[in-house]
Amino acid sequence: MKRVFSGVQPTGNLHIGNYLGALKQFVELQDESECIYCVVDMHSITVPQDPKELKKHTLDIAALYVAVGIDPKRSIIFAQSEVAGHAELNWVLTCSSYTGELSRMTQYKQKSRGEESAPAGLFMYPVLMAADILLYDTDIVPVGDDQKQHIELTRDLAIRVNNKYGETFVVPEGRFLKSGARIMSLDEPTAKMSKSAESEMSRISLLDEPSKIKKAIMRATTDSEGGVRFDVENKPGISNLLTIYSSFSGKDIAEIEKDYEGRGYGDFKKDLVTITVDALAPIKKRFEEVRNSPELVAILKDGAERANAIAVPVMERVKERFGLGI
Ligand code: AMP
Ligand code: TRP
Repeated sequence: MKRVFSGVQPTGNLHIGNYLGALKQFVELQDESECIYCVVDMHSITVPQDPKELKKHTLDIAALYVAVGIDPKRSIIFAQSEVAGHAELNWVLTCSSYTGELSRMTQYKQKSRGEESAPAGLFMYPVLMAADILLYDTDIVPVGDDQKQHIELTRDLAIRVNNKYGETFVVPEGRFLKSGARIMSLDEPTAKMSKSAESEMSRISLLDEPSKIKKAIMRATTDSEGGVRFDVENKPGISNLLTIYSSFSGKDIAEIEKDYEGRGYGDFKKDLVTITVDALAPIKKRFEEVRNSPELVAILKDGAERANAIAVPVMERVKERFGLGI
């Protein structure tokens, strides 16, 4: 059975981009693989965090994992900082990385905005991510396609170490969703939907009220041409809404285009509101149950224990190869 690992940062509520680009795959993969899903709290402190909020968000994301359908009995759900191996392997991999390759990471370039001095944690972020993945002999990493470059770096590091020190790491593969891999902002459909965008109307969070979902979709940017057609270049707004419609309804985009032939954007948007509200309602309900139950902390403790049991022998292997310890 293949081993799957992925992680989500505990910053703010997850939006439908996170869900369609990542979490939905997490759930599906449980049927065919051994899955490990992490709340990567140590990645979050690469930018300033309020300690109380961070802890709250860690529990929120863990509850959302369960709410979207990750089964804590079959899969491992845990918080990154609860397993020491992540920080340990991070250092070893840091010593096999180059500042040149790290400074080419687009996410780093965007987040540091070309400033001469940026937080070192932001710079090292991809190495910690590589440590997360390689610590578990991971085969497959399901992520949104914005993480492609980080997965490539992880593979490069694994291959580099294997070549220099002998077989140490399993070289993982990214699994990127084809359609729906990138959900765009509702009010600015050429930018990706993001937790950090200023406008609340740019995104739909998994726990949003139906009234907010309706407002955001009805206001979503379209174009003046009319015609529900998929054409990312000329109609980025409608194309993004079609992707969301298709992902939630399971219908092909071509089929949806046909259904709305000769009809306006208003009809299409109204139906999309219903589809989205119906898809999110059970997630919201389950979230409230899990988040308020003492079971959540027990799930995370059990998950950390099971994760650690996999990580410790891998770390021993790494230390052996590098000649670390006595
Ligand atoms: P983040 O919120 O950046 O920690 O992302 C968590 C997961 O959601 C990662 O696998 C991302 O690639 C994915 N993701 C984030 N934003 C989007 C988006 N707009 N569309 C698709 N996937 C996304
Ligand atoms: N960098 C990822 C993101 O922003 C989160 C992440 C951290 C991750 N470690 C990981 C994803 C390991 C997959 C595997 O979405």
